[in-house]
Amino acid sequence: MISPVRSSPPPSSAADSAAQIAPRAGIGRGLVTALVGAAAAACVLLALLVLPGVGSDPYTRQTLALKGSAEHGALLFRLNCAGCHGIAAQGLVGPNLHGVAERKNQRQLISQVVSGRTPPMPSFQPEPQAMADLLAYLNGLV
Ligand code: HEC
Repeated sequence: MISPVRSSPPPSSAADSAAQIAPRAGIGRGLVTALVGAAAAACVLLALLVLPGVGSDPYTRQTLALKGSAEHGALLFRLNCAGCHGIAAQGLVGPNLHGVAERKNQRQLISQVVSGRTPPMPSFQPEPQAMADLLAYLNGLV
């Protein structure tokens, strides 16, 4: 008598848990689908937000988001750049920079200063604010 009583509950409880697992798995799939959908929507949103800065690294984006001071840029230019480009940016070892903002866009100007890709012009590492100031100065060279 004892053993049948003991043996009967386990199968029924196993059936119960099997019955419980099925709906849970169904909810899980629904949740996964919802999460994948949300992630896809987030990606689209992120792409739209980042799109204006496509092709820019974080440094360039940060620099372009700042308002530069042409006055401070001029000071930085005299200290770092005038030796090659001339005190009035009229050109010396490096080219005349008047009208340079018409030849190069803002990203190209930043890259010119930080990349060091055109020796003998060295690679500079100005803080984003200092770079924004230099840009403001270069943009004012008409
Ligand atoms: C050691 C000399 C040297 C120094 C210092 C120097 N440059 Fe230059 N720069 C050059 C030379 C040479 C070129 C031309 C590179 C080339 O295109 O081959 C140039 C090119 C440029 C250009 C592109 C000009 C154009 O017509 O496309 C910009 C902008 C510029 N420099 C800005 C700066 C700024 C801003 C600084 C200071 C932070 C600076 N340079 C410091 C030598 C120098």
